[in-house]
Amino acid sequence: MDNLKILYLASEVSPFAIAGGLADVTSALPKALKGFNHEVRLIIPKYKFINERKYVLREVIRLREIPVTINGKTEIASVKSAFLPDSKVQIYLVDVGGFFNRSGIYIDPKTKKPYPDNAERFAYFSKAALETLKILSWQPDIIHCNDWQTSFVPVYIKTVYQNDPFMQGIKTIFTIHNLTEQGEFEPEVAEKIEFDQSQVKEGGMFYKDGKLNLTKGAIHFSDFITTVSETYANEIIDDDSIGFGLGKLLEEKGEKFEGILNGVDYSVWNPATDKFIPHTYSSEDLSGKEENKKALLMRLGMEYKENTPLVSLISKITSQKGVDLVHEAMDQLMDMDIQMIIHGDGDRALVKKLNEYTTKAPDKFRINVTFDDKMAHLIEAGSDMYLFPSRYEPCGLNQIYSLKYGTLPIVSQVGGLFDTVEDLDEAAEEGTGIILEDLSAEAIVAAVKRGAELYHQPEKWQEIQKRIMAEDFSWELSAKRYIDIYERTLAE
Ligand code: GLC
Repeated sequence: MDNLKILYLASEVSPFAIAGGLADVTSALPKALKGFNHEVRLIIPKYKFINERKYVLREVIRLREIPVTINGKTEIASVKSAFLPDSKVQIYLVDVGGFFNRSGIYIDPKTKKPYPDNAERFAYFSKAALETLKILSWQPDIIHCNDWQTSFVPVYIKTVYQNDPFMQGIKTIFTIHNLTEQGEFEPEVAEKIEFDQSQVKEGGMFYKDGKLNLTKGAIHFSDFITTVSETYANEIIDDDSIGFGLGKLLEEKGEKFEGILNGVDYSVWNPATDKFIPHTYSSEDLSGKEENKKALLMRLGMEYKENTPLVSLISKITSQKGVDLVHEAMDQLMDMDIQMIIHGDGDRALVKKLNEYTTKAPDKFRINVTFDDKMAHLIEAGSDMYLFPSRYEPCGLNQIYSLKYGTLPIVSQVGGLFDTVEDLDEAAEEGTGIILEDLSAEAIVAAVKRGAELYHQPEKWQEIQKRIMAEDFSWELSAKRYIDIYERTLAE
């Protein structure tokens, strides 16, 4: 089959709106699919902060005022069109009822809490997306949804649109990026989003732990479910502390549930061409890396020390990411001759505890509490090691970026981390990173020590850097697997 029509739906897409790794995937995969000559279009919300001039958003007269009705309540959507930067992938940006004319994506920056009407916001977004297709008369073969924010689409297609001729034959794929966030709301919300209220009771399709659970609904209604690595797919089923109560349902999906490892968009994450780092470099000439390290440390007001390894962590500051274990290890880590940077936001209490070390060890440690994508590039480029001790990790992208940037990953043995990093052997002649012995502060200290010892053998270190920079996780292979799933699903 060639020339599939694929609609890709997401709540974040880089560079328009980024809250985490999801945004990298939702921009890279559509580009990769387009590369295989499929017709791919994207729809995302038009958040207030998206700069219309910078991204050349255009008005589409037909899409200026689209009535979107959910359970009798009509909101007006307006849709603009643009292209994903450096690509021919068309993207539509939807605001509806002013739901996205706000400064946060999911969280209100003022209250630091999720917007109370998040279920309705994304329900209207999803329905507006489907109405947009009708006005455009563009009927996709596949609608590929991502996480709970787009979970309404598989449900609506098989419920409120079940007799709509336009929607006939459209197949839905749902990708789970992280089961930590399942889209859980009070059961009363069902009415507002036009979900069958009888299914929000014990045993119902949308019911879990006393709540309306959007991910569960999407699993029921989608034609195929994927997640972002093979190991995570297995862990979801085998270990309830990772599957969060959805493992059994996914197991029942049988061959309609698969793990496909995320790829990397090397046009964005490549130290030889990176626009966000002051000194580009490659495995032939690594000198720029040290210059980036100086620039990075200077940016953070830290002194550059020759022959002192810099260990970084870019992540949500949560216990899922094992950052509490890093905190436990801090006294010992700060006793070592290393420097350390943590970049990210999250659990307030944990951030506060880590922050104490900026006073205790000012020239050794910084925590940079924001999420800034450009800074993430500089940290990858300027660091020697990258620490990622997650308790579970659907895929994880920064460990893969680290490989390309010659920054040795130190990771736990879970999910996508397990699928992308291979432990160095005794002589460090093979392997691409250091795998933690177990999930503990001691294991983190031991791994950083092992990394530091290798770092102090410059010849060996360079050999390792060159080896890991040659690793290739480009999207091609994974995109082919998605295409295969689309084709299989359409053939049913
Ligand atoms: C989520 C997951 C992360 C994954 C990303 C993209 O952020 O936590 O592991 O890499 O989605 O799929």
